[in-house]
Amino acid sequence: MKVLVTGGCGFLGSHVCEFYVRQGAEVISYDNMTKHELLRTGFAADEARTYNLDYLKGIGVAVVTADVRQFDELLEAASGCDYIIHTAAQPAMTISWEDPRLDITSNVIGTFNVLEAARKLKIPAASCATVHVYGNKINETLTEGKLRYERDPDAIDELHPTLEGTLTPLHASKAAADIYIRTYIDTYKVEAASFRLTGIYGSRQFGGEDHGWVANFAIRSILGLPITIFGTGKQVRDIVYATDVCEAFHAFYKTRQPGIYNIGGGRKTAISLLNCIDILTEINGTAPDVRFALDRHGDLRYFVCDIEKAKRQLGWSPTVTPGKGIAALVDWIRNTGLFFINKKAK
Ligand SMILES: NC(=O)c1ccc[n+]([C@@H]2O[C@H](COP(=O)([O-])OP(=O)(O)OC[C@H]3O[C@@H](n4cnc5c(N)ncnc54)[C@H](O)[C@@H]3O)[C@@H](O)[C@H]2O)c1
Repeated sequence: MKVLVTGGCGFLGSHVCEFYVRQGAEVISYDNMTKHELLRTGFAADEARTYNLDYLKGIGVAVVTADVRQFDELLEAASGCDYIIHTAAQPAMTISWEDPRLDITSNVIGTFNVLEAARKLKIPAASCATVHVYGNKINETLTEGKLRYERDPDAIDELHPTLEGTLTPLHASKAAADIYIRTYIDTYKVEAASFRLTGIYGSRQFGGEDHGWVANFAIRSILGLPITIFGTGKQVRDIVYATDVCEAFHAFYKTRQPGIYNIGGGRKTAISLLNCIDILTEINGTAPDVRFALDRHGDLRYFVCDIEKAKRQLGWSPTVTPGKGIAALVDWIRNTGLFFINKKAK
């Protein structure tokens, strides 16, 4: 089996590459080594992206440095492959406000090119959407001093309305890519899947305030840096560990049931930002310095997804609990990641 992983040098992409190397597959990473978001974290941008690149080379992954917006190069790299897993993206909401052109070209044209390559080569492709496509409608009500949510977590399945609430360019680009996946399934019968992913976390994640909040909290707690929580800290997500997402990609390859799938932890892994701080306090033995700021334009307050469709059609279920996953992340940061994280982080 030969697999092309776009964004292979990113956080999730590097896990997908490693997963397929372990399966005995020939793996190609296709990544333009973008550093936008890493530059914002303050955590050694060059070292961080290159760390993943070197890691992949070390485990036998072929590395192509190229851009998903360049169709001919992408098609050439995908030729002879059995499967494309598309993780390359501009994933941060903040960067989408600042550079909407980068956002639309990376996320929409990039996904379109992947679909065109899959169509021409007659191979399956799975792509990363996000639960942000559902929007961020504010549903909190305060009743008898308790916060309640209008949305029933179990109700957020793939048939739930999308793009509710206030939109940012990231919502538009990710939703457009998700629609293109459906379009290529319906029109060209491409065996494609769009994974609407919740918050993913794990080793090799140099998370910052813009993207990758679990890793950002973990890194800052270990460095003794203050953690900023935007909003109340009661925002909830069903976080999912990177290796569980890799299993989902493989489940799609094996079952070939094209469509849109929520891929998250479901109710079992739903934690608030404050719960995450508590878990880190327990693991580290000390409480981090937490500061609060106003919530940000476009932020999602509450999301727990229904993963029944993926369970039913792909035979996939996540297995890593937040306690186990965050402990593994902390272990990686202490043993490896810190070496690459710039002391200038602030
Ligand atoms: N990490 C999360 O919590 C999360 C949550 C929901 C959805 N997602 C989605 O999962 C995917 C992977 O996210 P991640 O956290 O691994 O992001 P990441 O930023 O770590 O990785 C993305 C990779 O894509 C590469 N890339 C960006 N633009 C490119 C281009 N034009 N051509 C080629 N390569 C390009 C970058 O260099 C980077 O290595 C994204 O689509 C993201 O939107 C992530």
